[in-house]
Amino acid sequence: MESQAHSIIEEPAGAPPRHVAIIMDGNGRWAKREGKIRAAGHRQGAEAVREAIEGALQNGVEYLTLYAFSSENWNRPEEEVRDLMGLLKLYLNREVKTMHKQNVRLRVIGRKDRLSSDIQQMITKAEEHTKDNTRLTLVIALSYGSRDEIIDAAKALAQEVEAGALKVDEIDEDRFTAFLSTKGLPDPDMIIRTSGEQRLSNFLLWQAAYSEFLFLDILWPDFTKETFAEAVSEYQGRDRRYGLRP
Ligand code: FPP
Repeated sequence: MESQAHSIIEEPAGAPPRHVAIIMDGNGRWAKREGKIRAAGHRQGAEAVREAIEGALQNGVEYLTLYAFSSENWNRPEEEVRDLMGLLKLYLNREVKTMHKQNVRLRVIGRKDRLSSDIQQMITKAEEHTKDNTRLTLVIALSYGSRDEIIDAAKALAQEVEAGALKVDEIDEDRFTAFLSTKGLPDPDMIIRTSGEQRLSNFLLWQAAYSEFLFLDILWPDFTKETFAEAVSEYQGRDRRYGLRP
């Protein structure tokens, strides 16, 4: 398995984050500010996704996780959900080729079974097509909720115990993380949220145990690769201690 939080301790101070996760917030407010409909905000948000990927590539970040649609987002008005799903399809259709050329591997986490079957197929195809790429792993969280994920892991572990394949005493962090949808990914070193809100909103609750948080006052559609570079610099100036003494 790839490294979890412990191994990050050995990283030299000042190194760029290996894994950046972003809560992309503020599309609606951006649309309002610009006098446009919400869907236009989401469309501009998809442009900012490109900027974030470019920023990750330029700054040597190995993993980029984007919170694109939460399990709670299903409760938004039907029309907005439809717009977001349409945008996602458009994005997958248009961007997977570019991603592949840029040596980017795509992975989707979340309750994929709630997505329409055509989107599920597109995801499977894109993941398969890019699976051997090594420069950047782009993780898109879709229909994702961290509590769902933790409950699923707890159920899977309980089933192993019930089947006699695992003893309760054998359950430790490594066994637990192996049942999370982020299996094989290092924990995020930095979690960014745009739009001035300072909440985790059911995103990577387990994985965020030692993450650095960066709350930006800009709206997501205004996010650029320069913003990404500034965030990396800010991270490099942080002193990560993981509960150890200064
Ligand atoms: C939050 O803004 C954003 C979302 C719920 C959707 C995020 C989607 C994108 C950035 C575009 C599509 C993504 C991909 C990967 C193609 P909000 O609507 O909650 O904004 P508000 O709080 O200002 O109303």
